[in-house]
Amino acid sequence: MIPLANPVFDAAEADAVQEVLDSGMVADGPEVRRFEREFADYCEAAHAVATSNGTTALHAALEALNIGDGDRVVTTPLSFVASANTIRLAGAEPVFADIDPATYNLDPAATRRAVRASDADAILAVHLYGLPADMDALSEIAADEGVALIEDAAQAHGATYAGEPVGTFGDAAAFSFYPTKNMTPARAGWW
Ligand SMILES: Cc1ncc(COP(=O)(O)O)c(C=O)c1O
Repeated sequence: MIPLANPVFDAAEADAVQEVLDSGMVADGPEVRRFEREFADYCEAAHAVATSNGTTALHAALEALNIGDGDRVVTTPLSFVASANTIRLAGAEPVFADIDPATYNLDPAATRRAVRASDADAILAVHLYGLPADMDALSEIAADEGVALIEDAAQAHGATYAGEPVGTFGDAAAFSFYPTKNMTPARAGWW
């Protein structure tokens, strides 16, 4: 069998888990606050909020932007299902725009057409397999059309676009720390 992912954990992670267990604060606490601050700094973002997973982070971003019943969100059909089903979870309708076959990410021209045709309220761009979507073009479309822009950066920790970290282009962004992702949570100070 070929393993899909092979996360590397050593004594540092075991010690960090033990410290949290010993602290008795196993749901939330200072370690989570440190993680949020350090990950925000790593992304050069003003804030980061830890949620239970990437799906809940995307859902929270949609809710924070007041995307809900009757709204439409343009996204890519080529992604993990959470990109589209969090739009449904928020009560809105996913509208699929085609991808650019050279990048596998949203095609900007198709995205603009889809935003206009559906009178969309937001664009949810995915940085698929760590390759940033065309954020210059998508930011321009979002500004021109007056719609929110959300980045699904679940697969793109540490990726940059025009020298800027992903997660800082849209109104909100979501990352995943699922074990198959580019990065699993590490102890404070790791990065
Ligand atoms: C592109 C994309 N979006 C969202 C998610 C959801 O993240 P999670 O599995 O942490 O809920 C994933 C990963 O599973 C993903 O690959």
